[in-house]
Amino acid sequence: MTKLRIGIVGGGGIAQAAHINNYKKHVDRVELVAIADVNETTLRRNVEAHGFAHSFSDYREMFEKVELDAVSICTPNKFHAPATIAALRAGCHVLCEKPPAMTAAEAIQMEAAATESGKILTYGFCNRYRGRALYLKRAIEAGELGHIYAGRVAAMRRNGIPGGVFVNKELQGGGPLIDIGVHMLDLALWFMDFPKPVQVMGSAYRELGTKPYDTVPTPWDYVNYTVEDLAMGMIRFDNGATLLLETSFIVHMPEGSNSTVRLHGTKGGLDYKSAGIHKLSQGIPVDIVAPKIPDPDMHQVQLEAFIAAAEGNGTMLSTPREGVVVQQIIEALYRSAETGEAVNL
Ligand SMILES: NC(=O)c1ccc[n+]([C@@H]2O[C@H](COP(=O)([O-])OP(=O)(O)OC[C@H]3O[C@@H](n4cnc5c(N)ncnc54)[C@H](O)[C@@H]3O)[C@@H](O)[C@H]2O)c1
Repeated sequence: MTKLRIGIVGGGGIAQAAHINNYKKHVDRVELVAIADVNETTLRRNVEAHGFAHSFSDYREMFEKVELDAVSICTPNKFHAPATIAALRAGCHVLCEKPPAMTAAEAIQMEAAATESGKILTYGFCNRYRGRALYLKRAIEAGELGHIYAGRVAAMRRNGIPGGVFVNKELQGGGPLIDIGVHMLDLALWFMDFPKPVQVMGSAYRELGTKPYDTVPTPWDYVNYTVEDLAMGMIRFDNGATLLLETSFIVHMPEGSNSTVRLHGTKGGLDYKSAGIHKLSQGIPVDIVAPKIPDPDMHQVQLEAFIAAAEGNGTMLSTPREGVVVQQIIEALYRSAETGEAVNL
């Protein structure tokens, strides 16, 4: 079989940690051919470390000049949509990092470009590829929870404001909601089989991110901190289900972090963090816990699925349509936070 010719757009942190390193585990099936990054130093380092034959400061030039089969989009969120659409129009399969885009309109354009090209478009909702997520999804499909009618999504950090672009609204579209909350929101929606959202209510705060520590150096750019540091929300669906959501980069709370999905069904509930399924049996609470679920690296499993799908074997878990729904909810939560009104979808 001829090797897949791989391109990378954005050669920073996640490209190194989750894409390039994992492509390199399959040199018999893929070839790292080209990379685009606006930062010359990053480009040079990537070429030296990984042997890309072609490098570009503009991804559009990369797609014009080099023939590629599959591309990872690993830029700040602002460039996900234009780079993904350019890649699809150039005939490439695309694995675009999460969140899909900055807005729902962009996610819709990405979906349309995927349909027109006939190529794969999938998003880096890597948590779906965790062992416990796959186990819980199978349990739900086997009817263990019954009808899921309510739930709670948390992606909370007590003191975890990231550096770089992650505090920049112009480049990222927002803070914890679009960056980390989106992972757990997507997981909850996937577990619930993506019911249609009909109404969203949200609040967003910037109480701590803009202020320095009292006495010690502050590790993030609090002067140019333009995203929320805490977001809260409620999402109602057309099947009557409700999800509550909370997500923070920084907030005063007892634990260092708390990331989970809890779902309540007519037959049972689940807790993603502990992979627990909770029921009543003859009036007695029964907890099904599976301490030995295999949990290989989710990024590697996701990338291997992408390589296989690009070779024509199998499909990806995350679809362009689901990306649209996730983005609609995120956008509506931010809009509701801004206006103080519920948003009907
Ligand atoms: N799935 C996950 O768990 C996960 C984890 C971290 C980050 N991410 C996502 O990955 C994306 C990148 O995050 P990161 O941590 O790698 O950021 P980063 O800042 O480390 O890397 C981004 C890279 O993109 C480059 N870039 C900026 N604009 C560009 C453009 N127009 N064209 C080409 N390159 C451009 C930058 O120079 C940089 O090298 C974000 O969307 C983020 O949400 C996902």
